[in-house]
Amino acid sequence: MKTVISTDRVAAVELLRKGHVVALPTETVYGLAANALNAIAVAKIFEVKERPRFDPLIVHLPNREWLEKIAELPASDRQLILKLADKFWPGPFTMVLPKGDIVPDIVTAGLRTVAVRLSAHRAFTEIVAELGEPLAAPSANRFGRISPTTAQHVLDELDGRIPLIIDAGATEHGIESTIVAVRDGRIAVLRRGPITEEQLSQFAEISSAVATAKISSPGQFPSHYAPRTPMRLIDKAEGFVPQKDQRVGLLAWDGAFRNAQAFAAFRNLSDRGDLREAAANLFRYLRELDALSLDLIVAERVPSQGLGAAIMDRLERASNR
Ligand code: TXA
Ligand code: MG
Repeated sequence: MKTVISTDRVAAVELLRKGHVVALPTETVYGLAANALNAIAVAKIFEVKERPRFDPLIVHLPNREWLEKIAELPASDRQLILKLADKFWPGPFTMVLPKGDIVPDIVTAGLRTVAVRLSAHRAFTEIVAELGEPLAAPSANRFGRISPTTAQHVLDELDGRIPLIIDAGATEHGIESTIVAVRDGRIAVLRRGPITEEQLSQFAEISSAVATAKISSPGQFPSHYAPRTPMRLIDKAEGFVPQKDQRVGLLAWDGAFRNAQAFAAFRNLSDRGDLREAAANLFRYLRELDALSLDLIVAERVPSQGLGAAIMDRLERASNR
């Protein structure tokens, strides 16, 4: 199959209507989309990604009205869910809710819950609205690999496996959406992301599922987001000395280090120490360093408040295998 990179949104809608899989930009990372109500189309996502069938997908809604078709809102949490939707949708925010009957089991991997999101990305929004049906979409990488933040990354991952990649440049946030479950008046954070716990805590008590509970969600696998090159976290690059003949790449936080000669290559997540900029650059720089056939990548820890917690989460997974 020939994979085309283009900006032709009409072609994307046509392919989706026919049950094909298309890569689309969102404000977080590029997604691999298929009509969520077409189980055969959704099965293709798993084939293309080589993703285990027990890993459920996020359903992206055409608009707010679809929320209560896709999910059943429990009366006790209804107000809180709607408030969160008002505040954080459209945007980089996903809620895990009891599943509605029309959602095929393959989408939720047999779970009784479904993850729902409303993207704010212009191209994505137009395509899903024109299709008029929700889109199931995981990140457009092969299973266990780094999420793509440009159309070229998607091509590197999936060339020859899908017909079309819609190109809208680099994604805004650069890391995947925050995923929460709303239960018994509380918010459990299942995956950290652009919407921070600080922001969420203004709406309800946060029960920190990331740290404690065993979630049936492989995005929680400790070795997710792994580059091929071995990776290690360090506090500061300053003072780091590679072993003899060892080619080490540095993923630096803010470029404050002065021992550049110790490294075969380096990237600064943000020269001005800005967490948003760091998140947006993270996966691109990891990919670039991973492509250099280094012996080791060392990454500096970033400040762990706010968005930094989500970045540290990705760095820890990437260095864990
Ligand atoms: O930003 C994003 O969320 C991107 C864009 C494309 O929307 N999507 C994304 O999807 O990151 P994916 O499939 O790569 O990660 C979704 C995570 C997976 O770890 C999956 O296990 C979890 O969400 N998940 C999906 N449905 C779930 C459910 N019902 N309960 C618990 N976890 C769920
Ligand atoms: Mg993913």
